[in-house]
Amino acid sequence: MKSLLSASVLSLISSASAIPYAEYILAPDSRALHPASVHSSNGSVSNAESLTSSPGSAVFEDDAATAYDFGKNIAGVVSLTVGSVSDSDQYIGVTFSESSLWVSNKSSDATADAGKDETLWFQVTAPGRYTAPREKERGGFRYMTVVHNSTGKVEITSAEVYFTPMPHWEDDALRNYTGYFHCDDELLNRVWYAGAYTNQMCTIDPHHGNALVHLGTINSSVSDATNVTWYYNYTITNGSSALTDGAKRDRLVWAGDMAIAVPGVVASTNDVVSIENSLNSLFAVQNRTTGQLPYAGRPFFSVLSFTYHLYTLIGVTDHYLYTGNLDYASSLWSEWKLALNFSLSFIDDSGLMNVTSPSDWLRFGMGGHNIEANSILYYTINQGISLAEALNDTEPVAFWQSTAEKIKSAANERLWNSNAGMYIDNETTTLMPQDGNSWAVVSNLTLNSSQIKSISSNLADRWTPYGAPAPEAADAISPFISGFELQTHFLAENTTAALGLMRLQWGFMLNDPRMTNSTFIEGYSTTGELHYAPYLNDARISHAHGWATGPTSSLTFYVAGIQLLGAGGKTWRIAPSLGDLTFADAGFSTGVGFFSAKTQVANGGFQIDFETPEGTSGEVRMPKASCAGRALLKASSGKYAALEIEVTHANTGPISVADVPGGKWEVTFSCT
Ligand SMILES: *[C@@H]1O[C@H](CO)[C@@H](O)[C@H](O)[C@H]1NC(C)=O
Ligand SMILES: *[C@@H]1O[C@H](CO)[C@@H](O)[C@H](O)[C@H]1NC(C)=O
Ligand SMILES: *[C@@H]1O[C@H](CO)[C@@H](O)[C@H](O)[C@H]1NC(C)=O
Ligand SMILES: *[C@@H]1O[C@H](CO)[C@@H](O)[C@H](O)[C@H]1NC(C)=O
Ligand SMILES: *[C@@H]1O[C@H](CO)[C@@H](O)[C@H](O)[C@H]1NC(C)=O
Ligand SMILES: *[C@@H]1O[C@H](CO)[C@@H](O)[C@H](O)[C@H]1NC(C)=O
Ligand SMILES: *[C@@H]1O[C@H](CO)[C@@H](O)[C@H](O)[C@H]1NC(C)=O
Ligand SMILES: *[C@@H]1O[C@H](CO)[C@@H](O)[C@H](O)[C@H]1NC(C)=O
Ligand SMILES: *[C@@H]1O[C@H](CO)[C@@H](O)[C@H](O)[C@H]1NC(C)=O
Ligand SMILES: *[C@@H]1O[C@H](CO)[C@@H](O)[C@H](O)[C@H]1NC(C)=O
Ligand SMILES: *[C@@H]1O[C@H](CO)[C@@H](O)[C@H](O)[C@H]1NC(C)=O
Ligand SMILES: *[C@@H]1O[C@H](CO)[C@@H](O)[C@H](O)[C@H]1NC(C)=O
Repeated sequence: MKSLLSASVLSLISSASAIPYAEYILAPDSRALHPASVHSSNGSVSNAESLTSSPGSAVFEDDAATAYDFGKNIAGVVSLTVGSVSDSDQYIGVTFSESSLWVSNKSSDATADAGKDETLWFQVTAPGRYTAPREKERGGFRYMTVVHNSTGKVEITSAEVYFTPMPHWEDDALRNYTGYFHCDDELLNRVWYAGAYTNQMCTIDPHHGNALVHLGTINSSVSDATNVTWYYNYTITNGSSALTDGAKRDRLVWAGDMAIAVPGVVASTNDVVSIENSLNSLFAVQNRTTGQLPYAGRPFFSVLSFTYHLYTLIGVTDHYLYTGNLDYASSLWSEWKLALNFSLSFIDDSGLMNVTSPSDWLRFGMGGHNIEANSILYYTINQGISLAEALNDTEPVAFWQSTAEKIKSAANERLWNSNAGMYIDNETTTLMPQDGNSWAVVSNLTLNSSQIKSISSNLADRWTPYGAPAPEAADAISPFISGFELQTHFLAENTTAALGLMRLQWGFMLNDPRMTNSTFIEGYSTTGELHYAPYLNDARISHAHGWATGPTSSLTFYVAGIQLLGAGGKTWRIAPSLGDLTFADAGFSTGVGFFSAKTQVANGGFQIDFETPEGTSGEVRMPKASCAGRALLKASSGKYAALEIEVTHANTGPISVADVPGGKWEVTFSCT
């Protein structure tokens, strides 16, 4: 048989020490950052470019400003070093922006519902180093504008930012990923690494969460908000790191966002402690009488969200799935059951949960027998059944099973529109939402594969040139819900559609010049405007939002095909699905060990080299071949007997081999 792998590809997996493909990692190798280039200047600034390294010498005279570009989104505390100053009454200001749209010498982009954030001013009295107070770090910016506002002169010799994300990692180890991904599409490679970096940007020192000083006071009805203050000085969780929704804002814990961010973290950095600190902060404010969990972590005010309540529970079952640490789940189990009972108490005679509070991911019209909320409930109950079994707490299982079955049959009776081939949002509307249709597939609320294929195809038909719209949010494009839509196309076995959506939507989010070319935005419009329907203030949109990182886990889990089925990977499935790609290689570690799978397609056949930890077991599901041929599965180490499978017909569907013990394996399929 012809060798399918080139020597150069083989050499990449041979060294266990350094993670392969590290050249794609966007995290810096040191926390001391300097601008990459000058974006633009006004007034008299000499040698502005010199501040791209340190020491430099840029002289700002009279009214003058230079906008610097860091080349990617970063976050941290600014320090300016002043070399000389014309007199002791000078001021230097700094403004920040994630997008090029809000680069300005008057204001930063925004964190409040209206207006723009203030300039950070330093009174310069003498040469020396001027550092912003820690509560005035900025959580996400690609552009930093240095402003001089009076007569006189200031020489700046260094404009440095101390990078604050991933505070619990060593200063020189921000690039020490535990996971990697590579394929023969450079755009998808960049998308994977931008997702991983976005989640790092959202991982903050929990003592520097957003204090929300204007919550409820500066809202969209305030038309004259200027120089809006911001303070990152609220302690949002215990511990030394927290996974939050966004780098600039909200810098708070939101469980819904974590449903997409967490698998992306597992596939790239395996930063479990930040996930635990964030989940713990939500359980810390649980109402121990009713079981109700918060919409968001402190200091957000108390609001009931049916879906975010359930996402917190999914956080716990996901933690067990991705770590195998039963002690953590066990420590929260009674709180978990109390919280699930709270949700179950809203199920009425129809068999469905009646949603009586509109709070969700800022979509509109959340209420009644909503399909998204009921799908998430169905999913949570099933996750709870698995966890109950792992904990040997079988008492609630029978009731949960019958409740879940009723939700499934009632939802299909009441909410499935067979003419359209999609679910409606609730009984009183014809609107067919992106969130509920995607979640129905992800949760397996669907009864058969033809429903799944129909939903996938109908969702794909709606794409605009900028991505997949969410009609339930005034046709916004939601990179959050589109993360679930990606999973829907994979579950419909249409990898081509999933890759198509990644290239279209995440390609736009990466390559458009208004974006950061490094992190993913919270939301925008179907026509490509950086306007997100739930907000009136466009400058407020976060450009580094963990909920927008769906492709990172999807590329690893579905394309490279490394799927953890239970307990941190004690059981697994290797199921590569390359679509129009010819090569995919991924790996990552959990507490159980290291998992990898590399697939090369050539000459109608393929070769898969994979590795799973000793003591685990799983299933190998090979991609469909386009020819009749012969598949051979053999252990690279020779510890297990070689297993041979003959395939005599073309297109017989995926070939599966069950009960494969953990180890290093090679699978080859060649056409006969
Ligand atoms: C330069 O001035 C223009 C016009 O006022 C403004 O739009 C731009 O943001 C300014 N840029 C800098 C770096 O000050
Ligand atoms: C420059 O800005 C500082 C800080 O806002 C202010 O106190 C000072 O009056 C300004 N100087 C001029 C000349 O506008
Ligand atoms: C991070 O990775 C580098 C390069 O592989 C290695 O030298 C360093 O020891 C690692 N640091 C930590 C804290 O793991
Ligand atoms: C806002 O700040 C700018 C300088 O950063 C200043 O010129 C302006 O007067 C301030 N506006 C108000 C309303 O304070
Ligand atoms: C945050 O800092 C501001 C300004 O110093 C202060 O007024 C506020 O009390 C601080 N908030 C917290 C929670 O420390
Ligand atoms: C818990 O919920 C109950 C019922 O809504 C309410 O009366 C009580 O004040 C809540 N407890 C806390 C600590 O918020
Ligand atoms: C049903 O869905 C529609 C469309 O999303 C929405 O406008 C309406 O408010 C929902 N009904 C309830 C009771 O929430
Ligand atoms: C849901 O509950 C609310 C409040 O009790 C009620 O007004 C509404 O009719 C219920 N919706 C459905 C679909 O039963
Ligand atoms: C559950 O029961 C099985 C079989 O008795 C046992 O091996 C396992 O340790 C138990 N698990 C827990 C969490 O108690
Ligand atoms: C999905 O539900 C169907 C029953 O409707 C069941 O046969 C199937 O095993 C479920 N699939 C998964 C992956 O749980
Ligand atoms: C997969 O989705 C694409 C749309 O992206 C569609 O053109 C194609 O027909 C779908 N394939 C199948 C097998 O449904
Ligand atoms: C975007 O970032 C990539 C590295 O991830 C770089 O190669 C490319 O040049 C950047 N594009 C632009 C337009 O800066």
